[in-house]
Amino acid sequence: MTAPTVYRSEMTEAQVEYLTDLVASEDFAGAHLEVGTASGMTLARMIRALPAPHDPAFVVVDNMRYFPDQMDTVRGNLESHGIDPDRVEFRVGDSGDAFEAAARAGDSFDFMVIDASHRIRKVTGDLRWTRLLNPGGVVCLHDYHPSFPGVVKSVHRFLRRHSSYERMPSVDGLVALRKTGPSRRPEISWVDRAWAAGWHVPLTIARRAN
Ligand SMILES: C[S@@+](CC[C@H](N)C(=O)[O-])C[C@H]1O[C@@H](n2cnc3c(N)ncnc32)[C@H](O)[C@@H]1O
Repeated sequence: MTAPTVYRSEMTEAQVEYLTDLVASEDFAGAHLEVGTASGMTLARMIRALPAPHDPAFVVVDNMRYFPDQMDTVRGNLESHGIDPDRVEFRVGDSGDAFEAAARAGDSFDFMVIDASHRIRKVTGDLRWTRLLNPGGVVCLHDYHPSFPGVVKSVHRFLRRHSSYERMPSVDGLVALRKTGPSRRPEISWVDRAWAAGWHVPLTIARRAN
C-alpha cells in the first residue's frame, strides 16, 4: 500500500511563525496576497493568525502545476485548518499575467508573500507586485539565501534602487521589506528585467555545475 503524501509548509517553523506574528501584529486593514502557495500550509497558518476577518481572507496567485491535484490539496488543507476555502480568492495562472490583470483592475495590498519561481527573471518579474503595495505595507520574499542567488540578487538590486523600501528584522531565509512611502516610478522597469535576463544564463550554468 502506498503511504499517503504528507504536505507541509515549505517554510521552517521559525519562518512561518515570523509571518504569523507579522500579520497578527500589523493587523493590516487592506488585502493580503501570497504568490506561490504549494500546498497552502503556510497560507492556512497566516489566515488563522489574522486578527480580524478579511473578505477575501487572502488572494492567492499560483499556476497550480506544482504537483497533481494541487488545488484540491490546498482546499483540503485549508478545510483541515477550519478555514472555508471559498474565503480565499484563487487566481490560477502565471504570476506575470496575474500581476498585469491586478494592475489593470487597480488592486492594492497591504501584505504580500512572494514565493513562486526562484529564477532571477521570475523573481525580478514578481517584484512588480510591489507597485500594488500600499505605503506602510510589507512584502516578504522566501528563500533569500545563497542557495537561491536569483532571489538574493533581485532583492539587493531592488533595495539599492528604491529608497522607499526598508529591510525589517526577519529570520534566516526570509526577507521582509516595508514600503515607507509611495514610489515615484514603477519599481521594476524594462532595464531591471533586461538585467535579470542577462543573469539567467550565468546562474543556470552555475546551478548545473554545483
Ligand atoms: C516554493 S512553492 C511555494 C511554497 C509555499 N509558499 C509555502 O510556504 O509552502 C512555489 C509555488 O509557486 C508556484 N509557481 C511557480 N512558478 C509560478 C509562476 N510563474 N506563476 C504562478 N505560480 C508559480 C508553484 O506552483 C508552487 O505552488
